[in-house]
Amino acid sequence: MRKVVTSAPSFPEAQLDALLTLECGVRWQVACGDAGHWRVGFYSPAETSAAAIQELETHNCPEFFLLLTGRLVLVLRDEMGTREVELKPGKPILVQAAHSGYCPGGAHSGVAIVVERDAFETTYELYAG
Ligand SMILES: [Fe+2]
Repeated sequence: MRKVVTSAPSFPEAQLDALLTLECGVRWQVACGDAGHWRVGFYSPAETSAAAIQELETHNCPEFFLLLTGRLVLVLRDEMGTREVELKPGKPILVQAAHSGYCPGGAHSGVAIVVERDAFETTYELYAG
């Protein structure tokens, strides 16, 4: 198990009042935020099944996901056990459980917008899907 501390400001400078350019085909990119408050990122994992996931992450605060394109399944583990939740357009989820995700339609083929705090802690644990 390893722990990573994310400290504010944890996002790149973003030009205000202008369209932002995002990369395609990357697992995680942080687009912008408000120092000391929140940041927004885009999550698009390379894994295409739960069996390919090697670790789950847990934050000390909830994390918001909303599907933008494609298909994306979250793998969640808490005291109730492990379950998979496929994201649906227009149906956001606020995640507190240990989590990771995969794109059943192919690597990086699904994208979710993520909103989280600007500063938080993450614990990673091994996962054998
Ligand atoms: Fe997370």
